[in-house]
Amino acid sequence: MDAVGVLCWAVWCISLVGAAGSEQPCQPPPFTSGVLYVTAARGMQAGLGQFSYDSGGKKLRFTDDESKVMRRPVYLDLLFLFEEGIFYEINKKTSTCKKRPLLSSLHPMEVHPNMTDIGEMYLGSRADSGQGVSMKNWVMVVPNYGGFVVTTSSVGCLTLSSVLFTQTKDLLLFSFTEVTKVVQDPEVFLPPAFCDGVPLESEGNTLFGVFLNQASSSLFTEPFPK
Ligand SMILES: *[C@@H]1O[C@H](CO)[C@@H](O)[C@H](O)[C@H]1NC(C)=O
Repeated sequence: MDAVGVLCWAVWCISLVGAAGSEQPCQPPPFTSGVLYVTAARGMQAGLGQFSYDSGGKKLRFTDDESKVMRRPVYLDLLFLFEEGIFYEINKKTSTCKKRPLLSSLHPMEVHPNMTDIGEMYLGSRADSGQGVSMKNWVMVVPNYGGFVVTTSSVGCLTLSSVLFTQTKDLLLFSFTEVTKVVQDPEVFLPPAFCDGVPLESEGNTLFGVFLNQASSSLFTEPFPK
């Protein structure tokens, strides 16, 4: 599906919101970890690496896998504390850390309470086992951006993918792969010791803003390896 196709699909989904029932969002597993791919328009990579998510504590750690990510000016190592409204930009190589205001608690890790269930869908073949997945789509409109779609498994409410459409024809696609319902090292949700006492920077951002910035900085490198 190209970007226009995806957008039409999202607009179609959102137009159904009025008609759909307002079912309560499903509850995700308390902890998840795996490999997250973040892709922007024109195939621009905005992130690829390990994620760990604490749904109850509303905490997310994401670390680019430098061996897989394409060459880029900055590799991300981020700790988002959605309830506290702050995030950390961590650099383990230089033992430096920036603490910034998180300007929105919105994120792609699970269904937001304001989202509407637009129904169940079977991707792939229902008849042949192992060749498809039963999923649910949830949508909302995000102020200043546009459509936001979260796709979960019908059983277990595992987030499979999320898409944010922006008003500037950009988008962010989050694909959650190799997901397990454990976080091996709970320390990932604590800022490293070298973050202790760092001042809060004046410039804040949102999670979506951080990844969109990363995608636009990849504009100066190759979108696809030759
Ligand atoms: C969720 O809905 C409430 C009530 O309509 C609204 O005040 C709030 O801003 C919404 N949140 C988002 C992120 O859209």
